[in-house]
Amino acid sequence: MLEDENIIEVRNLTKKFGDFVAVNDISFEVKKGETFAFLGPNGAGKTTTIKMLTTLLRPTSGNIHLNQFDVVKESNKTRHSFGIVFQDPSLDTDLTAMENMEIHAALYGLPKDLYNKRSEELLNMVELWDRRKDMVRDFSGGMKRRLEIARGLLHHPKVLFLDEPTLGLDPQTRNHMWSYIKDLNQKEGITVFVTTHYMDEADKVADRIAIIDHGKIIAQGTSDELKQKTGQTSLEEAFLSLTGHAIREQAGESEMKRMGQMWRGGKR
Ligand SMILES: Nc1ncnc2c1ncn2[C@@H]1O[C@H](COP(=O)(O)OP(=O)(O)O)[C@@H](O)[C@H]1O
Ligand SMILES: [Mg+2]
Repeated sequence: MLEDENIIEVRNLTKKFGDFVAVNDISFEVKKGETFAFLGPNGAGKTTTIKMLTTLLRPTSGNIHLNQFDVVKESNKTRHSFGIVFQDPSLDTDLTAMENMEIHAALYGLPKDLYNKRSEELLNMVELWDRRKDMVRDFSGGMKRRLEIARGLLHHPKVLFLDEPTLGLDPQTRNHMWSYIKDLNQKEGITVFVTTHYMDEADKVADRIAIIDHGKIIAQGTSDELKQKTGQTSLEEAFLSLTGHAIREQAGESEMKRMGQMWRGGKR
């Protein structure tokens, strides 16, 4: 594969849930080695897109190529090409850090010697090697995320998908986590696809950004291109000018809604 070749190609991708269009005819490419961010408010369609890209949801229409495989028609081949860290933690908290790694290695059929080498490398990288024999239930939120990232990288994926990886983490842990990911991106040439609703995060870490709102890609480009396009000086202003609303307002609104639901007795 050539250096500047697209590792992800998405054409006219749509996902409907009944009559509701969650992802509406989006197209984009991600180049090999790039860090690409999907920036948008809650409910924009970010998780739905990641799920389609990682074979977990079947598109209503459109095409996805990942590492040159057709994601729908060649889903098994595709699965070895990527690692994923979900929005909701998917670790087994009744197991140790190492046991969580082992299960993943078994799932991907990683040979024992390769597994030993790689798990030590990765757990050292996320500074959890000394805690490898501890139960995950005793880990902090930041430690769990770091373990998930290490696990997602165990089978040497070409693309790492991260769905709001720093959601709910304090700023220091967020920065720390991103320095790991950037390091990996540079050392191993891993392509990173990240979703976020943190403006500063997209601005800082992404080579290119796609702004997604109500299931549509409103604009895409580098942070500078998005600013130029809108004649604004910050990404925040560019976002406002492109979508007609601030990203926080909406995130705040749905947060309020969720809290309201909790107060009304936890009904959803
Ligand atoms: N399984 C589903 N059934 C019905 N609606 C869904 C389902 N999954 C997601 N949605 C809706 O699709 C929209 C996009 O959701 P999602 O992709 O989770 O957004 P984001 O990750 O950007 O917050 C939301 O309005 C959400 O309620
Ligand atoms: Mg989401």
